[in-house]
Amino acid sequence: MLNQVARSLGQIEGQASPFVAVIEGVRTLLHADGVAVLVRDSSGDYVFRVAHGGLAEWDDYTLSVSGSGLLETLHARDQVTLFKRAQRNPWAGEFLLAAGMNWGALAPIRIRDQSVGALLVNNRRAVHVRAEHIEAFENLATLAGVAIQEEHLREDLEDLFMSVIVSLTMALEAKDPYTEGHSVRVAAYSEAIGKQLGLPTEALDLIHRSCLLHDIGKIAVDETILAKKGRLNPLEREKMDMHVLIGEDILRPIALLHPLLPGVRHHHEQFDGRGYPDGLKGEEIPIEARIMAVADAFDAMTSSRPYREALPEEEALAELRRAAGAQFDPRVVAAFEQIYPAVKRTLENLRPRVG
Ligand SMILES: [Fe+2]
Repeated sequence: MLNQVARSLGQIEGQASPFVAVIEGVRTLLHADGVAVLVRDSSGDYVFRVAHGGLAEWDDYTLSVSGSGLLETLHARDQVTLFKRAQRNPWAGEFLLAAGMNWGALAPIRIRDQSVGALLVNNRRAVHVRAEHIEAFENLATLAGVAIQEEHLREDLEDLFMSVIVSLTMALEAKDPYTEGHSVRVAAYSEAIGKQLGLPTEALDLIHRSCLLHDIGKIAVDETILAKKGRLNPLEREKMDMHVLIGEDILRPIALLHPLLPGVRHHHEQFDGRGYPDGLKGEEIPIEARIMAVADAFDAMTSSRPYREALPEEEALAELRRAAGAQFDPRVVAAFEQIYPAVKRTLENLRPRVG
């Protein structure tokens, strides 16, 4: 039986969430109909961090105050607690959560002597458990502790990663005052376009971050070119266009920033294939880059630049419409027109978030 658990863990090695291994292990070990990992959050509440099978509907729920009190008892005892519906005790009352469940088990989860959560099982039928089952269940709770710790580390890393993005953005805007606020506005437009197009949350986060950094390569472009009044000559144009490749080079050493590279590289591609650096066409261009191209162009047209005054928004919108299907993805332009009034109000009323 333990071999079977080990095998089920081996099969899912490399999965994105280490919680998957815990859930699979518990399902195999106790033939569980429902498994959940409860994690204590910063305010001391227990939240259903992962919930599976019969307990799936509890995902993201916060445990009741009385349930949390029982978990404190569990931690004080520091051992697995088993309970049955027939016993009518508080454990069965609080923790047999899914319909038709009659048997349950709870193991405390600790990280270095700190109580951080609990591993919960609900079963329709009672399971005859031996000492080995209990020990394996405790080990899976330890594994869940490792998963929680890994999640905390990842959150710290995410914070660090966002401060890298913010400081890079500020470094760019300090160098080129004409682009002040540009990246933040492009990010706000682009995220809203992505939402309008129905993209998932992770994609929206990626878009937001890519936008903040899209022009980071301009750090290496000569100030006289950035601030030039009048048209750029071909050599200057070439240097300016290099910013998409330089941006990629700047970010590449940081592995965490790799998902942002396609947006940075391709935000000057055009839908009809006439853009740079790769001349990609249509849907070959990553969606974040197609979105960014529209938001970037609109914000550039409606801001004053060294070489011209800002265009009125109606003219800029007309220009986007005119170039839909040529320079821009027409679906993205249509989405932009939908979201523009609301985003405009937000940008006027709020200081947009950086990061
Ligand atoms: Fe750019």
